[in-house]
Amino acid sequence: MSLLFSPLKLRSVTLKNRLAMSPMCQYSAQEGQVTEWHLLHYLTRAVGGVGLIMVEATAVEARGVISPDDLGIWSDAHVPGLKKLTGRIREAGAVPGIQIAHAGRKAGTASPWQGGKPLHRWTPVAPSPLAFHEGWPVPQELDETGLEQIRQAFQQGARRALAAGFELIELHMAHGYLLHSFLSPLTNHRSDRYGGSRENRMRFPLEVVEAVRAVWPEELPLFVRVSASDWVEGGWDIADTVAFAKELQKRGVDLLDCSSGGAIPGVKIPVGPGYQVPFAAQVRLSTGLSTGAVGLLTEPLQTEAILQAQQADLILLGRALLREPYWPYRAAQALGAKVWPVQYERAF
Ligand SMILES: Cc1cc2nc3c(=O)[nH]c(=O)nc-3n(C[C@H](O)[C@H](O)[C@H](O)COP(=O)(O)O)c2cc1C
Repeated sequence: MSLLFSPLKLRSVTLKNRLAMSPMCQYSAQEGQVTEWHLLHYLTRAVGGVGLIMVEATAVEARGVISPDDLGIWSDAHVPGLKKLTGRIREAGAVPGIQIAHAGRKAGTASPWQGGKPLHRWTPVAPSPLAFHEGWPVPQELDETGLEQIRQAFQQGARRALAAGFELIELHMAHGYLLHSFLSPLTNHRSDRYGGSRENRMRFPLEVVEAVRAVWPEELPLFVRVSASDWVEGGWDIADTVAFAKELQKRGVDLLDCSSGGAIPGVKIPVGPGYQVPFAAQVRLSTGLSTGAVGLLTEPLQTEAILQAQQADLILLGRALLREPYWPYRAAQALGAKVWPVQYERAF
């Protein structure tokens, strides 16, 4: 009996299997708006059989886009396009989820195929006025008013996600973007109640969780994605992540999606098959919170083994699904599950 193809119930939402499409920026939006590319791209993966589609990092503020080509949710004008997208995903049998995000000091770069360098079109914001790298802008340090604006922006983003028909939200607290940069001592040098001790560094991200949970319906699940480790001595690490997970759990977070890295450049990460799985496993074991495993998960038996070993509750696939949208059907065949659409029956 395959665990990968058994349903996962999260509050009132049931995923038909434990496979999710990991959030992946498409750099194909116009003024934050969904384009034809998004409709086709996400629909293809939904038809491909994943239980959950996590729509890419979608900015809660215009100054919080990674690139000007990112999706946005900072205005009511974004809702109709996103609603069309959730409709397509749901019709194809997947649950529509969305990652809402603020890029912080890493905001305002060109898309990867245009070089990915900072565009210097506006001054980004961050916990501390530290540039990400040489040639990158020095961000403006957020004051109390600025922090309140960001909390509100995430809350408004959650309201709009609901209006657009999303059934699940993931808060982006990984990869060196705004909320991760509050958590990590490498990027947060504040001396007020939002900096210094781990408890202080966790405060603002936790306030954002509270603001979102207050408007996100009780019956709908909330995920958080973290960088479980900065992979740097003196940076954020797995012990910090476990402590953070306990606080998230108290505030109604349902699953921790365990990624890593991104706080500072030039870090050596021991990348290999399933290299982030131990983070998901440790959080799950130490806190009882459900976890998502992500990162170089490419083989059906590998993903099934992670679930069987109770290292994670959900498998998130990124690049494997870009290469092969129908990966789930190949996995189903390998694991002896019959999950393809009736229309495709004769192919199996
Ligand atoms: C093109 C691309 C865009 C990505 N965009 C996001 C994003 O919007 N949010 C995020 O948290 N991670 C993003 N990631 C990271 C993926 O979600 C995933 O964690 C990573 O690719 C590792 O998983 P994989 O080995 O299955 O690809 C992106 C990765 C790729 C390749």
